[in-house]
Amino acid sequence: MRATHLPRVAAFLLSLPSTLAIPDLSASRHLWYKSPAPASDWENGALPIGNGRLAATVYGGVGIEVVTINENTIWSGPLQERTPGNALSALPVARELLLNGSITEAGNFIQREMMHEIESMRAYSYFGNFEIELGHGEEEVEEYTRWLDTRRGDAGVEYVVDGVKYTREYIASYPAGVLAARFTSSEEGALTLNATFSRASDVTSLEASALDDTPWIRLSGTSGQPVEEGPIVFSGQASFVAEGANFAASNGTLTITNATTIDIFFDAETNYRHADEDAIDAEITRKVSNALDKGYERIRDEALADSSSFLDRASISLGNSTDETRDLPTDERIALVRSAAGLVEDHELATLAWNYGRHLLVASSRNTDADIDLPANLQGIWNNETTAAWGGKYTININTEMNYWSAGPTNLIETQEPLFDLFKVAYPRAEKLAKDMYNCSGIVIHHNLDLWGDPAPVDNYTSSSMWPMGAAWLATHLFDQYQFTGDKELLADTIYPHLVEVTKFYQCYTFEHEGYKVTGPSVSPENTFVIPDNWTVAGNTAAMDIAIPMDDQIIWEVVNNLLAAASELGLPEDDETVSAARYFLSQIHPPRIGAAGQIQEWRFDYEMSAPGHRHLSPLFGLHPGSQFSPLVNSTLSTAAEVLLDDRLSHGSGSTGWSNAWFINQYARLYRGEDVWAQIEKWFTLYPTNNLWNTDDGATFQIDGNFGLTSGITEIVLQSHAGVVHILPALPGESVPQGSARGLRARGGFEVDVEWEGGRLKNAVVKSLRGGLLKLRVQNGEEFYVDGEKYEEALETEEGGVYVLTLG
Ligand SMILES: *[C@@H]1O[C@H](CO)[C@@H](O)[C@H](O)[C@H]1NC(C)=O
Ligand SMILES: *[C@@H]1O[C@H](CO)[C@@H](O)[C@H](O)[C@H]1NC(C)=O
Ligand SMILES: *[C@@H]1O[C@H](CO)[C@@H](O)[C@H](O)[C@H]1NC(C)=O
Ligand SMILES: *[C@@H]1O[C@H](CO)[C@@H](O)[C@H](O)[C@H]1NC(C)=O
Ligand SMILES: *[C@@H]1O[C@H](CO)[C@@H](O)[C@H](O)[C@H]1NC(C)=O
Ligand SMILES: *[C@@H]1O[C@H](CO)[C@@H](O)[C@H](O)[C@H]1NC(C)=O
Ligand SMILES: *[C@@H]1O[C@H](CO)[C@@H](O)[C@H](O)[C@H]1NC(C)=O
Ligand SMILES: *[C@@H]1O[C@H](CO)[C@@H](O)[C@H](O)[C@H]1NC(C)=O
Ligand SMILES: *[C@@H]1O[C@H](CO)[C@@H](O)[C@H](O)[C@H]1NC(C)=O
Ligand SMILES: *[C@@H]1O[C@H](CO)[C@@H](O)[C@H](O)[C@H]1NC(C)=O
Repeated sequence: MRATHLPRVAAFLLSLPSTLAIPDLSASRHLWYKSPAPASDWENGALPIGNGRLAATVYGGVGIEVVTINENTIWSGPLQERTPGNALSALPVARELLLNGSITEAGNFIQREMMHEIESMRAYSYFGNFEIELGHGEEEVEEYTRWLDTRRGDAGVEYVVDGVKYTREYIASYPAGVLAARFTSSEEGALTLNATFSRASDVTSLEASALDDTPWIRLSGTSGQPVEEGPIVFSGQASFVAEGANFAASNGTLTITNATTIDIFFDAETNYRHADEDAIDAEITRKVSNALDKGYERIRDEALADSSSFLDRASISLGNSTDETRDLPTDERIALVRSAAGLVEDHELATLAWNYGRHLLVASSRNTDADIDLPANLQGIWNNETTAAWGGKYTININTEMNYWSAGPTNLIETQEPLFDLFKVAYPRAEKLAKDMYNCSGIVIHHNLDLWGDPAPVDNYTSSSMWPMGAAWLATHLFDQYQFTGDKELLADTIYPHLVEVTKFYQCYTFEHEGYKVTGPSVSPENTFVIPDNWTVAGNTAAMDIAIPMDDQIIWEVVNNLLAAASELGLPEDDETVSAARYFLSQIHPPRIGAAGQIQEWRFDYEMSAPGHRHLSPLFGLHPGSQFSPLVNSTLSTAAEVLLDDRLSHGSGSTGWSNAWFINQYARLYRGEDVWAQIEKWFTLYPTNNLWNTDDGATFQIDGNFGLTSGITEIVLQSHAGVVHILPALPGESVPQGSARGLRARGGFEVDVEWEGGRLKNAVVKSLRGGLLKLRVQNGEEFYVDGEKYEEALETEEGGVYVLTLG
């Protein structure tokens, strides 16, 4: 195959009015390539689209096209009952052991007595691969391009063989609930293919039919358990429309010959949302028939109108790339940034990754008509195996939360709603577990969830499993939802009651120690310390302890959220729940500062066994929390800074998501150039050729994509500390000029910003629901609002627009 220069000529395409014109490829908007993704190297080039429930990753092959397909409720099995039976009686013993210094023994005891023998929860699985033999590999392929439009959410492929142009478009439709594709050839009748599905295991049937005008192929499968165990069962069907073509079906393969245009509509459903196989079939028929009735063009136009209505709400520009780099395909740009160890020539690659993060969020997390939608997991919604990497779980000791950091600030707050559906699924189980494991009311969730909301400790792993803080961290996202939307009904009916139930658990679960109420057994995810000389076994490493500072920080955040919510709801100060919460807050240990002046990770200033650990757990209070903000408490922000710099100097930021957390942490310290250095580090170490974040350069994990989008946004706008802070962390030297439009601040404000020479040029703040607007610009600089010097918070009107300029 010969790669030729990118065809920008639209004239040829004008003869194909029925296809979308190939977009005018833009360096900050499109991922695009001059060759297919390498066969079977799914993580290194295939392009992801999705409608929040169904997803596709497109390889763009010429001999064989492969599209990996996902449906977000296909997991490895039914609900499991994993409550550890001995946990409650073991709890006081575990605490006693930790209190009397028998640290190693405590760890072993907890793993033996407080975990369930079924170690794992369920894992995310793929539907299968859609495989299309096109037979073009042998001839010379010219003018090959494949692309993904990050601001519209669709993907495409085109190339020329023997003077015939072939195109393919791929759409994930939220309104119609299907995946759709259109294949064309520029010459009549030149399109001939074989289409089938494949799956690595547990296929129960694969059929193809060419009996009527709309032939189809269909694959059914299960999660593998015997029927009496109630496995997850699923089916997926692709229906084809190709006027004037010939069809034949044999043994699960559909053959189409002499077509000019082929339209394909796909749906998959499972028994997670539908009672049985009949209901699954009915739903597939309903969705696919509706799509067939509407026809491809309407389905496509409605899908793109929907996704664009989200993606168009906000934009950012971090400056232009050089003319040489901006015309290169994405993989070549990534290689250049890697060899230059930075973005000097290619700021638009950072803008592209920001747009991509928003596309990935809209594609993997949408609130549909279903009772339960599922949030983005460790791989979003994309995965190409029956068991996804790390089980594709909802890991809530950082990763799932990171997935949603950019939702509010980049004006996509509805994408967070599926997270609350998962909370709803987990709720009754979390309530039962609080009783069964801890004899407490309220709710408890440990460090992972699966689609069944399994809240029990998972994986029987020393430094992560015993961590009863998951529901608390998730609950801060609930309150954030209110801060962005101002939805009082949601606050009263859902958010406040959840904050109360979470807080109630800790009021019961924590125990008195040296005058404070402390947690334990728990961990500082997923770090370890060296056991001191006077304890056993001295010199060994351990992870489980009591009085974990990160737990204190999370409780601080949740209880403050509860108090703020109560105040928004107009509850009286002497309300029983409110006063109890306020009293509880006074019993939480204040942050500890260690010998080096750093925020301390443990109850003692233990020797660290991994000073460069990838988790920034003890800095929760700096980001995503607000307790250590320089605007809230400079003593604490200074101590946080000491720990952050120390972690980095010992090699932390050693996975893509850890690096992304650093980006956000430095933004919260207003250290713009350090933020930019961390962003450049991400580009040089972690993305694959399709800009997917990886753990270590190889395995896809989506959190870092979302964390990067969040961190870039935090350069321009922050609002976690009660202030709408404009350009708080601008790297003025590295990114002197740029702009952003449509960002959102907590409290209900929409913000457009332009900067020049590293300084604010102007900002426009729109008040969406009235209320007090407290402002800050860059490093506390003097500024003017509508020409008048800003002295104090403004009382805004709903719809009011306020223009900020420097003196
Ligand atoms: C999934 O992708 C990996 C590489 O990214 C590849 O090794 C593996 O074979 C693929 N699995 C399937 C079932 O296609
Ligand atoms: C620590 O507590 C455990 C459990 O109560 C007890 O068996 C052990 O003897 C105690 N060890 C010390 C050193 O006090
Ligand atoms: C957890 O793992 C430890 C070894 O690491 C083992 O001793 C213990 O029995 C396991 N717990 C359960 C409940 O299987
Ligand atoms: C029809 O398809 C066959 C097989 O792919 C091919 O040989 C033939 O040229 C096609 N006919 C037309 C009119 O394109
Ligand atoms: C379709 O499959 C048949 C039977 O295996 C094969 O002869 C034919 O070449 C295939 N067509 C394409 C386009 O690959
Ligand atoms: C039918 O297809 C399956 C794979 O899907 C294959 O294993 C089997 O050999 C095929 N049977 C025939 C008769 O071609
Ligand atoms: C970037 O390029 C656009 C045209 O593509 C131009 O309008 C704009 O002024 C340029 N910005 C900078 C910072 O050079
Ligand atoms: C659970 O706590 C209640 C007090 O809230 C206490 O009366 C009861 O004995 C406890 N049960 C167990 C099994 O510890
Ligand atoms: C062990 O040493 C720590 C200080 O490092 C001290 O606070 C603690 O009380 C000692 N524990 C015991 C059991 O003596
Ligand atoms: C900042 O935090 C420190 C440590 O918790 C505390 O002693 C101090 O009073 C706080 N300062 C303010 C201004 O709240």
